Amino acid sequence: MTSSSENLNNPSDITMPSISTKNAISLPPVQYDAPKTEDYYYMNLAIEEAKKGLFTTRPNPAVGCIIVKNNLIIGSGFHPKAGEPHAEVFALRSAVQSVEGSTAYVTLEPCSHTGKTPPCAVALIKSGVARVVIAGLDPNPKVAGRGVDLLLSAGIKVCVGVCQDQAEQLNLGFLKAMRCQMPYVRLKVATSLDGRTAMASGESKWITGPAAREDVQRLRALSGAIITGSQTIIEDNPSLNVRSEQLGVEVGQIPQPKVVILDRRKRLSGVKGIEQSYQVLHNDKAIIYTEDDLSVLLHRLKVDYDIYDVLIEAGSKVSGSFIEAGLVDELIVYQAPCILGHSAQPMITLDIDNLSSQRRFTLKECQRVGTDLRLNFIAQ
Ligand SMILES: NC(=O)c1ccc[n+]([C@@H]2O[C@H](COP(=O)([O-])OP(=O)(O)OC[C@H]3O[C@@H](n4cnc5c(N)ncnc54)[C@H](OP(=O)(O)O)[C@@H]3O)[C@@H](O)[C@H]2O)c1
Ligand SMILES: [Zn+2]
Repeated sequence: MTSSSENLNNPSDITMPSISTKNAISLPPVQYDAPKTEDYYYMNLAIEEAKKGLFTTRPNPAVGCIIVKNNLIIGSGFHPKAGEPHAEVFALRSAVQSVEGSTAYVTLEPCSHTGKTPPCAVALIKSGVARVVIAGLDPNPKVAGRGVDLLLSAGIKVCVGVCQDQAEQLNLGFLKAMRCQMPYVRLKVATSLDGRTAMASGESKWITGPAAREDVQRLRALSGAIITGSQTIIEDNPSLNVRSEQLGVEVGQIPQPKVVILDRRKRLSGVKGIEQSYQVLHNDKAIIYTEDDLSVLLHRLKVDYDIYDVLIEAGSKVSGSFIEAGLVDELIVYQAPCILGHSAQPMITLDIDNLSSQRRFTLKECQRVGTDLRLNFIAQ
């Protein structure tokens, strides 16, 4: 456990970013190749490839690549893990015949910089591909159009924007972090039909069924950090880890999310031997945040730890504070078919005096999960 001496708790040296610019990069005025009908089909396959790395690539984005020649898929690959080759390299390596004259479909702009691996744009140029179809540009300032520039200057045809929305859904955290220097924040709650999240006594295990709880494992596996409140730790002693065997990847391959506990009164730090009492405190990477500024916390998670996706799994007070501060991007409600009554605890603790001050969301998805419903809302 990292205690309050952690630099996260010293916000004085922080310059907060301006958060309003969604698309910070401007596209170079180049002539892109027009999309063809079959491009959408192959890009969808590249997106399926990218999904194979969804839980393991953090902090890197999940990217897939398909190589097509004479209407045959001759190579495919995805980025499995930070530090390992990118999707384009795996796809080129897997090619069953010469890629000379082929089309490469990539779900994110090929990189142009030498990081832990050499630039993929250069690998594509050297391979002799004739055309590259890209779902979306990479807002990472190290790339931001330069991958496309390299390809174009090598005489390769480049088409940008095919299935961009679908591809972007895979990397909401990475894209937001690159554009705004803040992580993408998902707030998850398990509620009854009457919007209650725990009994007045604190008892809350379990409101939703096993399928919904399994689904939460997927959310955790997508997240670089889970933020919770001290009261949830004290009452529930949750593990807040990824342990599911049903995610299609070995659990050991998934980087465990960092647990961040909000504890302004320091009830969980500075008490001798307290680590033994709570599961999450056994983990020496857990952070106890004793400051009040949630915006600074999120920014520091991005800057200091490369955390791009944050999941809030807390009680109504912490959930309410994040909503009040306008820091939630997506609200995920697991609603169980039960009623807990008016003395049970609310979903969100938030003082709103009049209807015009209501917080509104847009329904993005509604799905049955076992005996429960999952509702995904985007903040307006
Ligand atoms: N159904 C669900 O999805 C779900 C999920 C999690 C928990 N729960 C239930 O929720 C209950 C606990 O609810 P809760 O609302 O008391 O717990 P909570 O929101 O998890 O934690 C509240 C505590 O967090 C601390 N905190 C630190 N910074 C805060 C901030 N900026 N805003 C608000 N609080 C901050 C406060 O103590 P300090 O002032 O000392 O810092 C506060 O007392 C438990 O019974 C648990 O079982 C339900
Ligand atoms: Zn690359």
